[in-house]
Amino acid sequence: MSVTLQAFLRDYAGTDPRKLAVADAVSRIAEAGIAIADLVAQGPLADHFAKVRGDEANAGGDTQKELDVIAEEAIIAKLKSGPVAFLGSEESETPIPLNADGSLVVAVDPLDGSSNIDTNVSVGTIYSVLPYDAASFPDPTAALMQKGSAQLAAGFLIYGPSTVLVSTLGAGTQVFALDRASGDFILAKAAVEIAAATKEYGVNQSNMRHWEEPMRRYIEDCLAGKDGPRAKDFNMRWVGSMVADAFRIFTRGGVYIYSGDKRKGYENGRLRLIYEANPVAFITEQAQGAATDGTTRILDITPQKLHQRIPLVFGSREEVAKIASYY
Ligand code: AHG
Ligand code: MN
Ligand code: MN
Repeated sequence: MSVTLQAFLRDYAGTDPRKLAVADAVSRIAEAGIAIADLVAQGPLADHFAKVRGDEANAGGDTQKELDVIAEEAIIAKLKSGPVAFLGSEESETPIPLNADGSLVVAVDPLDGSSNIDTNVSVGTIYSVLPYDAASFPDPTAALMQKGSAQLAAGFLIYGPSTVLVSTLGAGTQVFALDRASGDFILAKAAVEIAAATKEYGVNQSNMRHWEEPMRRYIEDCLAGKDGPRAKDFNMRWVGSMVADAFRIFTRGGVYIYSGDKRKGYENGRLRLIYEANPVAFITEQAQGAATDGTTRILDITPQKLHQRIPLVFGSREEVAKIASYY
């Protein structure tokens, strides 16, 4: 018998007030995801979605496309009446107030992979759920800047050939797929396990000349293949939407790499700690993988800024350890 996301969340929460709040938040984000999936599915019929908005950059300094903002609005609309006090978002400089009585804060990348919107390639939504109470934090930004290890839940949706939710509630990582006929997310994989070893890496190799020395040496050793120090041939895959690269890694192993480099603004790579690296690190670890910035476990890093960037390596744990050994 198939297990729906709703049933899974009910089972997880029981009567625990905090878990009930988390379940409600995740369920609302999943609903927003269905709305966003429908928009993404319009593809070339809505090519204005890929239009850059004015010459505005978002809070992280990237250009903002129309669908980035529409996705954020869809999430706000679903979370408005729920258990979430504030929403931190890639597309908004400061936290968005939702429900003053809420016991959670949520951080989102409303649309990951924006550069792929008009290319019919998978994009997604990433979320991180953290505990909140007004007395413990001087302001909502501080609440969103808790370490990744404080996350209560995290996950991402992928809008691709199928609409998929990869979720952790802190006890393993599950995959749910949207059944279009019933409108329900159905449990497709109860315990994701990332292969410990791999021969596949994902990196934007066009930046090689800008990389830090350890990363350049690591990739050079991979490229040397069977006759090199790694004594095996490697394959390379790079979608350019982290959610899609992550899903491939969850499916067949691999490592995703976005290290710091010498380009201006890329000193700490490209990915944002709070709403990209932390949630992906949590899901990865719950699937027996690992995530590091090269020297420190991602979930142990104390955030300094809401939109902070962080070098990110995640995936198959033996390969992640190998990369860390180059640093
Ligand atoms: P976003 O669309 O939210 O800005 O994130 C894009 C990220 C990530 O999804 C992807 O892996 C990476 O940026 C691609 O970067 P490059 O274009 O530099 O390869
Ligand atoms: Mn992103
Ligand atoms: Mn984004």
